[in-house]
Amino acid sequence: MNRIVCKNNIFILETENTHYVLGVDSAGYNHHIHWGKKCDPSDYFINDIDDENSNSTKLDEYRQELTPFGQTMYRDCDIKAEFDDKCREINLKYDGYKITGDTLSLTFSDKYYPLEITLHYQIFENCDIIKRFTTIKNTGAKKIDFEKISSAQFSLPSVKPYTFRNTNGAWGGEFIETHDTLEGGYAVYETRKGASNHNNSPYFIAYQNADEKNGDVYFASLAYSGNFKISCSRDSYGITRVIMGFNDFDFSHTLDGGESLDTPPVYCGYTQGFGEMTRQMNVFAVNHLLPKQFNHKILPVLYNSWEATGFSVNAKQQIELAKRAAEIGVELFVMDDGWFGQRKDDHAGLGDWYVNEEKFPNGLDELINEVNRLGMDFGIWVEPEMVNADSDLFRAHPDWTYHYPHREACELRNQLVLNMTRKDVQDYIFNVLDDLLSNHNIKYIKWDMNRPFSETGAENLQNPKMYSYLHTMAVYSIVDRLKEKHPEVAIESCASGGGRCDLGALSHYDQAWTSDNTDGIDRITIQKGYSLLRPVKTMRAWVTDIEGINKPCSLDFRFAVAMQGSLGIGGDLTKYSDDDLEICRRNIALYKTIRDTVQFGDLYRLLDIEEDEVSLNQYVTADKSKSVAFIVANGTRFYKKRMPVCFDGLDKNKRYRITIGDTAYEKSGTYLMNVGIRMHIRGVDYNKIIIMEEI
Ligand code: DGJ
Repeated sequence: MNRIVCKNNIFILETENTHYVLGVDSAGYNHHIHWGKKCDPSDYFINDIDDENSNSTKLDEYRQELTPFGQTMYRDCDIKAEFDDKCREINLKYDGYKITGDTLSLTFSDKYYPLEITLHYQIFENCDIIKRFTTIKNTGAKKIDFEKISSAQFSLPSVKPYTFRNTNGAWGGEFIETHDTLEGGYAVYETRKGASNHNNSPYFIAYQNADEKNGDVYFASLAYSGNFKISCSRDSYGITRVIMGFNDFDFSHTLDGGESLDTPPVYCGYTQGFGEMTRQMNVFAVNHLLPKQFNHKILPVLYNSWEATGFSVNAKQQIELAKRAAEIGVELFVMDDGWFGQRKDDHAGLGDWYVNEEKFPNGLDELINEVNRLGMDFGIWVEPEMVNADSDLFRAHPDWTYHYPHREACELRNQLVLNMTRKDVQDYIFNVLDDLLSNHNIKYIKWDMNRPFSETGAENLQNPKMYSYLHTMAVYSIVDRLKEKHPEVAIESCASGGGRCDLGALSHYDQAWTSDNTDGIDRITIQKGYSLLRPVKTMRAWVTDIEGINKPCSLDFRFAVAMQGSLGIGGDLTKYSDDDLEICRRNIALYKTIRDTVQFGDLYRLLDIEEDEVSLNQYVTADKSKSVAFIVANGTRFYKKRMPVCFDGLDKNKRYRITIGDTAYEKSGTYLMNVGIRMHIRGVDYNKIIIMEEI
């Protein structure tokens, strides 16, 4: 059973397989004591030290949970404030702790100034994930400005260097992984673009000698979609620390008297191997993080019109697509960009969320009714945070975008960012979306966001440098309010593909659009990076007609890749031959029989496309009664590969029926995991789906 143990100001957070231990010494300094394998709780103590010499102080050497700026501490800090009299240092005393259910809170306050800081730690039944966040409170009357605020600090145990696994992606190439070994100085993963973006990921994964199954892996993911910073460092004592939270670039935060701030939370864990890390986070996210309406529900197979019809949508052609979609087994038909205002291309219309009457002379309901009649739900695309200069909204409210009075605003994709920190802008967006959902039978919103921010002036704010935080909170709050009022509506987070699918977004949105790159081969890498620390069921994956390097991979191949997340279809079905439609029908029917295993199962990455030329991912249900594995290879370099394929995660005492196309076997779990099935991997676009069911 998970529990919190406290003795002599030493606190042990005990999870299924780990201990996280911290303490407070008699002088009120907080200490990080241990994170990793469980030890005898009575052995933990605070190893107090003196200054090494006048240039190397004990404050610099401490492993801590929270480091305020001040005194003789020169390393990276978690929090830096400026008080009313211009004092810029914080000097804390310890006020005490509280354990409420599964949460431990430790409170500190400044020895002179009215500032209170509380560290929170929450544990969860049946998993090794710990939630951390910090509350900062101005307990006085005068304002306090903060230059830096982090959510959590971590110290890693080994004095040897750790390698940090993150991403260095881009639009169309999201989640491309990097591995940086940090011997000294700093490594920073961040965004300054306003939203969490395609480049770095707001997490750290630090490891030594690790692979999928073995080796120490420490990880923490920040649940925040604004400007973030993950700052990793290794000092001259060999201590590796990570500080994660708001990016201090172009940032400050003001708390007026009596105000407080809860930082975005961080979800952290320690596992042996990367596979267990993914499985821990996946189970945790499904049970505790994803919004409650849909977290335990199977996501439907959707159709999305974007790649087929672009901006040129109209009632007749969408109905044609919908008929085809229904025939092949689609359950949710989503009309993408182009249905509103004067939207002919990306130059006009954003902000005008009323139906374009030329394209839909009989209104939206003609299409929606037909989609419903065909047995599907209807979903629609919006981009609420944005406006085109060529729109009624911008003409009526030119002051509603972020701007500086004497600077020209830079457009990206011909659009500007609405200042979502304004109450009137928030009300406008909530009301138009609420009207849309109230007046039409819409069950799904794809909420897009297609540009980074610039000229982030906000005259309405006392402190405009809070824009990224306030904008992010406004988005979350509108999504939450819409869901409260329309609980049957699922909402997808999209930002030019996978530009906003951090755990903050996924605490409010039900799923995410992974990437605009739907090429079967590229997707293998993109999906691997996505699902490393994000729940698999949130990963929307479409089968489209995208041309790869020379041509699309075969339709079956694209299905075998897209079925590894929540399946969608995005091709122009009106151009599909009868044979192609039959391939779609067959694959969608198959997906419906395995999707509970994919969307909720434990993922085992068994072969890697980059390392092994073959990708083999296996999903296993929690009770180990069902499993599905996907093998895909774009033709191997050496033309053919004959090899035994071993599986994982099965029950060694169970027997399974294995089906690969028309071939079936019966084998024990032990056999499948140790001897395996011999496969002959050859030819272009090789793909096989292997289904295992307990007999
Ligand atoms: C970017 C998204 O990633 C696409 O799927 C599509 O919705 C376009 N925007 C529409 O403008």
